[in-house]
Amino acid sequence: PAGTGFAAGGDLLFAGVAMTQLAARFGTPCQLLDENEVRRRARAFQAALPEAEIAFAGKALPCRAVFRWLSAEGLSVDVCSAGELACALSAGVPAERILFHGNVKTAEDLKAAVSAGVGRIVLDSFDEIEQLGALAIAQPVLIRVIPDVDAHTHPAITTGTAGQKFGFPLGSVPRAVERVLAHPGLRLAGLHCHIGSQVRSVAAYEEAARRMSRLLRALPVRVEQLDLGGGFAAPYLPGERPFDLAGFVQRIRAAVNYECARPPKLTLEPGRSIVANAGVTLYRVITVKPGFVAVDGGMSDNPRPALYGARYTARLVGRHTRAKRRTMTVVGRHCEAGDILAADVQLPEDIHAGDLLAVPVTGAYHHALASNYNLVGRPPLIGVRDGEARTLVRRETEEDLLRRDVG
Ligand code: LLP
Repeated sequence: PAGTGFAAGGDLLFAGVAMTQLAARFGTPCQLLDENEVRRRARAFQAALPEAEIAFAGKALPCRAVFRWLSAEGLSVDVCSAGELACALSAGVPAERILFHGNVKTAEDLKAAVSAGVGRIVLDSFDEIEQLGALAIAQPVLIRVIPDVDAHTHPAITTGTAGQKFGFPLGSVPRAVERVLAHPGLRLAGLHCHIGSQVRSVAAYEEAARRMSRLLRALPVRVEQLDLGGGFAAPYLPGERPFDLAGFVQRIRAAVNYECARPPKLTLEPGRSIVANAGVTLYRVITVKPGFVAVDGGMSDNPRPALYGARYTARLVGRHTRAKRRTMTVVGRHCEAGDILAADVQLPEDIHAGDLLAVPVTGAYHHALASNYNLVGRPPLIGVRDGEARTLVRRETEEDLLRRDVG
């Protein structure tokens, strides 16, 4: 990210602050987030598609500060639980700029969404049409459609193909539309789809945009909105290309304009692509064994390698060394062989206990996916901007961990 680079003595700067200083002040493991980089990426989406609504997918990094920054930049926020909704509301995100998602919305979720007055609720099933309809009065809704487009990403984060659990299959959309239009509790504002996450294929989005536009054109009423979801890939390893946002914009605009005489207002829901590359996690090396470097964090702060086979790099911070590079695997402290943070990375062979390691691209789905496995407290989230660092979410203590255990 910007403001990141080399400093004296092998140290690295993060948003203008030396990583060794950040580790000394906040402890390790510790998740760093570059505020300016988050804002810059939000603005890049707005600049690429100024006519669209950009809604940050809150699940990627649900915390008040991030919601506040992005709301101040003019973004909407997409939430998918009463918890994320509460976080967005307490960050001051206006309710009308909140979209509520999810394939399972409990009665509590729906009540919270309706009583907060969220701008749009994204309907996912026939049951939900009735459940929400009974609670609401003219609630603006989008209907989530499975466009049956393969985004060519990891199976666990593929959502646009027929036969998975989210949304309405194409064939059932007319019936869902009819039911929503007939329901006094609901007002049809548009259609939604989300084809997957860490998607690199612009062609997949183009196909989804085309199919969704055709559906929109065939509706018995005119609706104002087409939400094409998120999923834009972030580069994790050196040499990986960033998502082709300019190409994407050109092709979805063309598809929508070609299919619709009066094009709808577009919404995009980027999560990862706004925050992933703005984050770095710092770890302390605890022990080194042949082929392994074991650190003080692990799958409790980053389960992504275990869940999706995700790859990361790692680099030594805070000292210069001329030692030869060796292929090593950075592993965590948890009691599983799958507790890997960065497989087969090049690290100096003199790496030793007490060294500091930085793992980049940890801004998305790290804080969000962290757990208390082995009753290890979750790391803090530290915001850094123009050489100033502050705690956004504090480290979890043993007291926090035991608080709910009332047996
Ligand atoms: N909109 C909807 C309806 C979604 O379900 C998601 C992500 C997004 C937008 C944002 O997708 P993004 O732009 O962040 O890719 N835990 C996984 C990712 C799960 C994504 C779930 N839905 C991971 O760590 O890779």
